[in-house]
Parts: sequence; structure tokens; C-alpha cells
Amino acid sequence: MAEPARWGLRRVALDAFDKLHLARPVVRAYELALAARWRHTATDAGEADGLPVPPARLRAQVGPSHADASFFLRSGREHAELIRDLLDDAGTSVEQLEVMLDWGCGCGRVLRHWAGLPTTRICGCDIDGRMVEWCRRNLPFAEVALTGISPPLPYSPDAFDLVYAFSVFTHLTEELQRAWMDESRRVLNPGGYLLISTLGEHYASLDRLTESELASFRAGNVVVLYERSAGTSLCSAYHPPQHVRDVLGAGFDYVSFRPAADAGRHDLHLFRKPATSGASSGTRAR
Ligand SMILES: C[S@@+](CC[C@H](N)C(=O)[O-])C[C@H]1O[C@@H](n2cnc3c(N)ncnc32)[C@H](O)[C@@H]1O
Repeated sequence: MAEPARWGLRRVALDAFDKLHLARPVVRAYELALAARWRHTATDAGEADGLPVPPARLRAQVGPSHADASFFLRSGREHAELIRDLLDDAGTSVEQLEVMLDWGCGCGRVLRHWAGLPTTRICGCDIDGRMVEWCRRNLPFAEVALTGISPPLPYSPDAFDLVYAFSVFTHLTEELQRAWMDESRRVLNPGGYLLISTLGEHYASLDRLTESELASFRAGNVVVLYERSAGTSLCSAYHPPQHVRDVLGAGFDYVSFRPAADAGRHDLHLFRKPATSGASSGTRAR
């Protein structure tokens, strides 16, 4: 790097490891160390919602704070509540959805909180086989598929009333982000909702970016670090909100925006696939 990183030693070290192609093993080692520290916390928290809690090594992979089982459960519940809230504000409700998809569901942090929905069909998918396997074994009310880093998804067009993606666009290159917006539109029912979380102004202000990266962000561009590791927690994308609304969201109606809305201070963007005149409710997820 030609200039000092503003995130301090951590960013400099990660850049150095990345040059040596060692950043991913280093991040994984950090996740496993966190998992070791928190591995005994799952049992109590596991009883809280009656469903098994994923092992600490999977929780840590979803995010460092999620190694703590209590935080994992609490934050997942809060995200499920945020989805409810956003849909309420948009004039509908989770109960009215026939089919929903948790795209990049990980080990079911949010997905598990739909267990009690009476009629909605719950689908999830992820590129990580161990996450998918854990969900399949432990969240039997959900249909969870192993999918690829690039489209397509194994679903027919117009299959879902809601697709949501928490902390997934945050780990993709711009090219993949565009491809996945198109694919989300394909699998959404006309009038269906897409909810995504991004790292916005809050994260840009945390000194994680170099001066030139920050200047690019402020000029309205997406900044993506460690693109070679797209799809993993190492790759991180920073989105100016107006870029999400106007560029990434082209082809969708923009419904609402909540900056730094959750405990992880992610921005939330709710879109809607335009309802074409005379559109039927469409084919449902296979
Ligand atoms: C930070 S974790 C978040 C997991 C979950 N959404 C949550 O909020 O707990 C990101 C997840 O996205 C998955 N992922 C990354 N790229 C993906 C893609 N192209 N399609 C599906 N899943 C993807 C990763 O495997 C990982 O499980």
C-alpha cells in the first residue's frame, strides 16, 4: 500500500498477510481462537428458544461477536424483529408472506426465529457446506440449499415474497453484488421485497479505510477490500447509501432505509420488485 492505513496496525498486518496469501488462514485462526474461548457458553443459551445452538466454530465464522452464544441468539432475534418492523412499515407482515428466502443464511442465526410461523414456507441457502449441513440437521422447519458464489439460485422465477441477506453483500465484489441483485429480482415475485444489509457511514467513520479509499467512499463509490476472498468474512465491502439506492438498486423500487440499524450498526435497505400489471402471484419455490 502506498499510504498508511487508518485502521492502524490491524489493517497493516492484514494487508501484509494478504500479499503473502496468508490472510484467510490468519482470519480463520482468529475465529477458531474465539470459538475455543466461547465453546462452553452454548448449553444455557441453547435452551432459550428450544432449538439447538450451532457450535462456536460456526458462530465465530458468522462474526466475531457471535462466538458468544447469547449474543448470537439475541442478535438473530433482533434481526427477525427488524424484518417484522420494516415489513409492518411497508404495510404488510411476515405472516402474510407465502415463501421467504434467507440468502446467505449461515448457521441460521435469523432463520431459526421463523420456527413458529404458521403458514410461511421458510427457505435458506448458503455457499458453505458445513453451515448448510448444520441447518438441515437442526432447523427442520426450513428448506436449506447449498448454492454457489455466483448465480443462479436453484429456484424458479417469481418464487419468493421476501428475500433477505444479512451481511452477505458486505462480503462480495461489485461484480458479484450486481449479479446477485439481478438474481434476487429474478426469484422475487412481482411486488416481493428484498432486504439487504451493508456497511455504511458508521463503518466508514471507524478508520478502517485508507485516505484514498475513504475519499472514494465519500465520492459515492463502493469500496471492496480483499476481493480475492469474496464470499468470506475477510472480504469487506463499504457502501455509500446513495449508491445502494441509485446504482445497486436500479430496477427495484426503493422502499426504506435505516442507517446503522442493528446491534452490528449495519445499514438496512428495503427494496421492492416492481409489480407488473396483471402479474399473477407467480410460481412458488421448488
Ligand atoms: C457474515 S455471514 C452472515 C450469515 C447470516 N446471514 C447471518 O446474518 O447470521 C455471511 C454468510 O454469507 C455466505 N455467503 C457468502 N457469499 C455467498 C453467496 N454468494 N451466496 C450465498 N451465501 C453466501 C457465507 O458463507 C456466510 O455464511
